[in-house]
Amino acid sequence: DLLSLAHEHDIDLEGAPTQAANLCACEGSVACSTCHIVLTPEHYDLLPEPEDDENDMLDMAFGLTDTSRLGCQVK
Ligand code: FES
Repeated sequence: DLLSLAHEHDIDLEGAPTQAANLCACEGSVACSTCHIVLTPEHYDLLPEPEDDENDMLDMAFGLTDTSRLGCQVK
């Protein structure tokens, strides 16, 4: 998933690349929003629409934006 990809490539998620693996409180079961990421519009448009359960969790994410996704659901 995106979190492990970002980790592999040392991409800065939430300002702490070495902690990327720890951001996933529910380990990808769409039961938290700790993996909330904000994509650029270009990247957002490349992805399939979020599923309902992802949207429900995103609603609870801090600082939700139009291009927010849950990192664990972005393959
Ligand atoms: Fe919990 Fe992504 S790790 S929703």
